[in-house]
Amino acid sequence: MKHNLYREFQNIFNKEAEKAYFSPGRVNLIGEHIDYNGGLVMPCAITFGTYVVVAPNNDNVFRFRSLNFNDKLDIPLKENYKKSKESWFNYPLGIIDYFLHDGHQLQGLDMLYYGDIPISSGLSSSASIEVVTAYMLNDLFNGGYNKLELVQLAKRVENIFIGVNCGIMDQFAVAFGEKDKALMLNCDTLEYQAVNTNLGEYVLAIINTNKPRKLAESKYNERVQECQTALKALQQELDIQHLCDIDSNTFKQHQHLITDSIVLKRAKHVIEENDRVKLAAKALANGDLLSFGQLMYDSHDSLKNQYEVSGKELDAVVEYSLTNPNVAGARMTGAGFGGCAIALVKESAFDTFSKEATAYYTAKIGYAPSVYSSLIGDGVGLLKETLSTNI
Ligand code: GLA
Repeated sequence: MKHNLYREFQNIFNKEAEKAYFSPGRVNLIGEHIDYNGGLVMPCAITFGTYVVVAPNNDNVFRFRSLNFNDKLDIPLKENYKKSKESWFNYPLGIIDYFLHDGHQLQGLDMLYYGDIPISSGLSSSASIEVVTAYMLNDLFNGGYNKLELVQLAKRVENIFIGVNCGIMDQFAVAFGEKDKALMLNCDTLEYQAVNTNLGEYVLAIINTNKPRKLAESKYNERVQECQTALKALQQELDIQHLCDIDSNTFKQHQHLITDSIVLKRAKHVIEENDRVKLAAKALANGDLLSFGQLMYDSHDSLKNQYEVSGKELDAVVEYSLTNPNVAGARMTGAGFGGCAIALVKESAFDTFSKEATAYYTAKIGYAPSVYSSLIGDGVGLLKETLSTNI
């Protein structure tokens, strides 16, 4: 469905929109459940994302509308807000709350949102709407934040206002993403490098299992907790701040400190996955996509068996991929428990991959996945020309 957001805005608010902004979603190539353990991740921004079209009003009211949801909200400008019922507008409301909390003078706004990221697909629709709102407020009201500060503010909103203990990867990736580049991000120091994703004869496929990530939030917080338990145990002998401060060899020498077998599996995943990201960066730089792909398969295996955040739907995509010689690698991406998998597929064989993966998955799971060929796009920004064109 194509939308002319400018015209839709006019229909809804009976006035002209003044500005439009876009923030993408993201996929993570490798380095899963690493960001809150202070290690390395390799996400990239995708061309799906969230748009917001806006005009200030003189009524001191924030009006939230969406082309994706019927839920809407009109709320007067006040000193602070609380998350109300479960609704999409809690994300932008949380961002407004944090701007007010930091002492910024805001004015009423009429806002129309539209997103083409499948919801609950693990492609970071929440980070996308948070970051696009933060960027918009910063621009409209001269907030004076730099991009990293906006990322940190958006993460605080997700952690405190929304209540999910996520790391910084998603907000960072959707803000700093660059076309055709992956971000090699150190989640401890927040230093990053935008590295070329020269995939040669391969393309990146995104396979949405179409299984909403129901368990994601509660199990996510449980995994964060388990990692903290593992860290405490290791700190009895090691002077470290994060699990990712050690590599697998050092881990082997100290793993006896972790007495709970489940916690041990979680730590093993984290530390080995962090090592895999380093190898994956080398493979990508050398154009060795077969090695990169094997690391993706290894990552999935560890997420399935050690970290236990996969599920039969994501596993089905990887199982099929392993049988197809035109696929270099595949894995779940994001938090897990449903959502999306990614695969490195030969461009010439993409259509067959899409058909066969769909058939395999449907026979096994009972409903179809959605398969996309993904483009790596830019991070958050002001839209100049696209305001009046169809999106
Ligand atoms: C979610 C979180 C991220 C990250 C991933 C797992 O997307 O929001 O911070 O932890 O899961 O890698």
